[in-house]
Amino acid sequence: MKSILFVCLGNICRSPTAEAVFRKLVSDAGRDAEFEIDSAGTGGYHEGQMADSRMRSVARQRGYRLESIARRIVSADFDRFDLIVTMDNENFRIVSAVNPGSEVELVRMCDYCSEHDVTEVPDPYYGGEAGFNRVIDILEDACANLLRQN
Ligand code: 4NP
Repeated sequence: MKSILFVCLGNICRSPTAEAVFRKLVSDAGRDAEFEIDSAGTGGYHEGQMADSRMRSVARQRGYRLESIARRIVSADFDRFDLIVTMDNENFRIVSAVNPGSEVELVRMCDYCSEHDVTEVPDPYYGGEAGFNRVIDILEDACANLLRQN
């Protein structure tokens, strides 16, 4: 069993979508029993909330159901998960700094991209619908390669 935690800032746009995209790929591959999948945010502003309604709407149109409830990353996550996948450089910096010295592997989501020449999944929160679709484009690319490598 491999456990993977996707992390962004608010845990209402990018990381819940990464969770849903990866979960669907895993399920479609008949590999559900092999993975534990969750997401969290470095900030707690939206704790307890469902994913952003704009993100859920765009995701639904593309076949993904976002069901996670926002939570902040906690120190126990560093022992609970094998792999923590961050959406942007700021998330990576914060998670690296908070890591209490566990054996968790910290990686950037975009390191798995093969079709998109980007280093970060752009924060869509203050933009329009195109930004939410772009998040899904990048995540589909990265998650497919993440699954191939695990
Ligand atoms: P996320 O997007 O990190 O992808 O969940 C954001 C959500 C909320 C805020 C910023 C980014 N915010 O400033 O409240």
